Amino acid sequence: MRALVAGCGYTGLRLARRLVDENHEVVGTTRDPGRTEEIAASGARPLVIEADDPRSTLALEEVAPDVCFFLIPPAPLDRDPDAGRLARVVRALHRAPLECFIYASSTGVYGDRGADPIDESVLPRPESDRARARLASERRLLELGWRYDCRPRIGRIGGIYGPGRTLGIRSGRYHLIAGHEGWSSRIHVDDLVTALIAVWQRGMNGRLYNLCDDEPHPSSEFARLAARLLDIDLPEITEEAARRVYSPDRVTRRLASRRVSNRRLREELAVTLRYPSFREGLPAALREEGSLA
Ligand SMILES: NC(=O)c1ccc[n+]([C@@H]2O[C@H](COP(=O)([O-])OP(=O)(O)OC[C@H]3O[C@@H](n4cnc5c(N)ncnc54)[C@H](OP(=O)(O)O)[C@@H]3O)[C@@H](O)[C@H]2O)c1
Repeated sequence: MRALVAGCGYTGLRLARRLVDENHEVVGTTRDPGRTEEIAASGARPLVIEADDPRSTLALEEVAPDVCFFLIPPAPLDRDPDAGRLARVVRALHRAPLECFIYASSTGVYGDRGADPIDESVLPRPESDRARARLASERRLLELGWRYDCRPRIGRIGGIYGPGRTLGIRSGRYHLIAGHEGWSSRIHVDDLVTALIAVWQRGMNGRLYNLCDDEPHPSSEFARLAARLLDIDLPEITEEAARRVYSPDRVTRRLASRRVSNRRLREELAVTLRYPSFREGLPAALREEGSLA
């Protein structure tokens, strides 16, 4: 099969590598000509595209993939209210019959839900600009699915972590926020790759899948484990200070609580995660990035 990984960044590069290992032909996109070597080293054919530029996305017409994994984040809604970034890619692919088009969305679309368990039947209630843009992209994709027969499937992804993505605790960029202990749902990048491939191979068109691990957890537990493993003190700040230090969108994200269920991933897509929780995944990620012996 030929797979297009639109947005061959952190997750996309690992996805490309896995697909190549499974003997698929892979094209991986980036905006940055300086990243083509890295993409080629994964075994994928690199293609430089800028999804905001209609002339640039025309280059996708000759790719004719069987499946597209769309990992390009949405532009801010005020710049791209109709999710044109996504629409241009769908249109460029529509001449070849696609088996499916998988959109990497986010559990952020659910908004702040306290301790209530969230499955895919819960209606989204996005609170940040970024989450509103993602929901707009999901809706646009479903519409485009009818028009271009691209067979959309949506993965709502929890917080991605893995080697090189372990909160940046060492650099002092992460703070506990006093008095706030919401729920977080995360997934190790290698399990995310497994989940995305399962959405392709065993998923259904038009269906939503929460892509996170088995254990939603109080959000500070992840940071506390990282700090303990790295032997670092975690700075704590007040909510007022957090509003000064972080952007409004980041504060909204940090204060939100989401306890997301991955039952559909486990039961319908029959995925068994290598790292069912951060307790196994975080030490493995720190070891792989070289922070832990
Ligand atoms: N990080 C999380 O916790 C999280 C949670 C939920 C969902 N997600 C979403 O899941 C997806 C994968 O996440 P990630 O962390 O692996 O993403 P990432 O490393 O930021 O990679 C994003 C990719 O999209 C490409 N891209 C960005 N803007 C583009 C544009 N205008 N035109 C063409 N390509 C563009 C980037 O190109 P370059 O190679 O040129 O940089 C990069 O290859 C993203 O959509 C992300 O927003 C992330």
